[in-house]
Amino acid sequence: MNTLSKTCWLGAAIYALLGMIFGIVMSASGDHTLAAAHGHLNLLGWASLALYGAFYSLYPQASMGLLARAQVALAHLSVIVLTPGIALAVRGEGETLAKAGSILVLLSMAAFLAVVAFQTRRAVRPA
Ligand code: HEM
Ligand code: HEM
Repeated sequence: MNTLSKTCWLGAAIYALLGMIFGIVMSASGDHTLAAAHGHLNLLGWASLALYGAFYSLYPQASMGLLARAQVALAHLSVIVLTPGIALAVRGEGETLAKAGSILVLLSMAAFLAVVAFQTRRAVRPA
C-alpha cells in the first residue's frame, strides 16, 4: 500500500466511524434534521475516499506527484468543511461553509479527473 492510498483509507475509516456514530445518535434521538450532513460525511468521507484509495492502490504511479497529493488533500478538506457546512445551512445558520465545501469537492473531483486522464495517457503510450 502506498502512502497516498494509506492516507485515503485511514481517513475513510475515520469518517465512516464518525458518520456511523452520527447516524446512531440521529436514530436514537429520533431527530433526523441533520440527515444530509450525515449522508455527505459518509458518501464523501467514507465512499469517495475509499474509492480514491482503491484507485491509487491499483495505479501507484498515479499517486506520485503533486497533483495526486493535492487531490487527496482537497478531498479530505472538502469533507471537513462541507459536513459542518451542510449542518449549518440546514439549521439556517449560514451557507458560507457549505458553499466553500462544495467548491472544494468540485476542485478535488476536477483534480481527480486530471490524474485519471494523465494515468490513461501513460497507460496507452507504447513502451
Ligand atoms: C451505523 C450506521 C448508520 C446509521 C445508524 C444511519 C442512520 C441514518 C438515519 C437515521 C438517517 C435519516 C433517515 C431519514 O430521515 O430518512 C440516515 C440517512 C442517510 N444515510 Fe445513514 N446511517 C448509517 C450509515 C450510513 C452509511 C455508511 C452511509 C453511506 C455510505 C449512509 C448514508 C446515508 C444517506 C445518503 C442518507 C440520506 C441523507 C439525506 O436524506 O440527505 N448512512 N442514516
Ligand atoms: C459539491 C458537492 C455536493 C453538494 C453541494 C451536494 C448537495 C446536496 C443537497 C443540497 C442535497 C439535498 C439535501 C436534502 O434535501 O436534505 C443532497 C442530497 C444528496 N446527495 Fe449530495 N451534494 C454533493 C455531493 C454529493 C456526492 C459526491 C454524493 C455521492 C457520492 C452525494 C449524494 C447525495 C445523496 C445520496 C443525497 C440524498 C438524496 C435524497 O435524499 O433523495 N452528494 N446533496
